[in-house]
Amino acid sequence: LRGPLLSFLNDPGEGDSPEPGSVLHLDDGALWLDGGHIRAIGHYHELAPHLTEGIDVVDYSGKLMMPGFIDSHVHYVQLDIMASYGRQLLDWLNEYTFPEECRFAQRAHAENVAEAFLDEQLRVGTTTAQVFCTSHPVSVDTFFAAAHQRGLRMLAGKVLMDRNAPEDLTDTVLDGIRDSERLISDWHGKDRLGYTLTPRFAPTSTPEQLDATGAILRNAPDLHLQTHLSENSGEIAWVSELFPDCPDYLGVYERYGLVGPRSTFAHGIHLTQEMRSRLAAAGANIAFCPTSNLFLGSGLFDRLACREAGLNTSLASDVGGGTDLSGLATLKAAYQVGQLLGQPLTAWQGFYRLTLGNARALHLDAHIGSLREGGDADIVILDPQATPLLARRSARTRSLAEQLFALMILGDDRSVYATWANGECVHHRDTAPH
Ligand code: GUN
Ligand code: FE
Repeated sequence: LRGPLLSFLNDPGEGDSPEPGSVLHLDDGALWLDGGHIRAIGHYHELAPHLTEGIDVVDYSGKLMMPGFIDSHVHYVQLDIMASYGRQLLDWLNEYTFPEECRFAQRAHAENVAEAFLDEQLRVGTTTAQVFCTSHPVSVDTFFAAAHQRGLRMLAGKVLMDRNAPEDLTDTVLDGIRDSERLISDWHGKDRLGYTLTPRFAPTSTPEQLDATGAILRNAPDLHLQTHLSENSGEIAWVSELFPDCPDYLGVYERYGLVGPRSTFAHGIHLTQEMRSRLAAAGANIAFCPTSNLFLGSGLFDRLACREAGLNTSLASDVGGGTDLSGLATLKAAYQVGQLLGQPLTAWQGFYRLTLGNARALHLDAHIGSLREGGDADIVILDPQATPLLARRSARTRSLAEQLFALMILGDDRSVYATWANGECVHHRDTAPH
């Protein structure tokens, strides 16, 4: 692939200019793909003489190649309830989410949604996600099978919930553990797939279920874990009623051994600095889900307070609470939330979070998140002139920072020109993928 390319080598920091050495930007770059990997990366004129005969060069001049975007927290099973009106978290779960999730007992429904979800992810340039399924094992088998068939790097898991939900959605401590273990043995580490233990959130699990989940994690520390934390004030009050012996919401997860370096906690809006420090000490990450936090009216996430505490943040769509699968749309909302807190997100920091930052938070940076020799060939090609408006704006931008910022605010699915995953073109905006 030939064209301009951008990849992060490190956290660019919060300043208007990136920290020295944190960004790799080549005006006329080249990525030599070999199978599912990047064999070489460099200036086109340096790599060209080494290309063996018969190698096709795909020319992306005028576009911008970046590592495929990563979504650290998303519910594939909520694709069809996006844009459900007028409720905040707990009512939204009861009125829209749980009834929809009941449908995933049926394999055909799960297959249909899994394929549509993956099509849409690739269309918006997201090549890896950490995905909630439902409590039905078939919803997980179906998702992993679809991702595997496409050769994608994906994390997913079965939702564990044994109380406070409709009967069709609740498991039991024993079944939840048995099903998770079966799914782990079938899917974890299969090519590019990994398993994420997924207790939904404290209110829908008994202490016994959380304890049993912690026991699996202790015996298999290479597994991921994700859940929700401190998203909504009604939720927080409910947790303190259900777990009166725990000091706070985070304390519930700590008590059962669920807070570790591979743990992702979605939201974490209403946290004290002391709780942020406890999460930081454990090496966990908070998934910042700006479109969801705005849509469900949950609150404004204080990204800089997390940075201050040394707590990792990842970036996520949280669809169906979120309103857009697109990483660009997520960045735009993150910028707007930041503005309301007096902490505007730079384009450097934003694109870092979507790529290498998320890869690091999920411990996947050995494979994805940057364009480098030996890395996975998961690439998004952005079009800075995708729309008439972007083309006009692009004619005015004087720097890469301005161009990236314009993409972050004015960009959408049309700005994703093509997506490559596992060394293959899996989406092309204007033609069939080749
Ligand atoms: N908390 C528990 N379940 C959910 C969910 O499905 N979405 C969101 N946003 N928060 C939750
Ligand atoms: Fe969520």
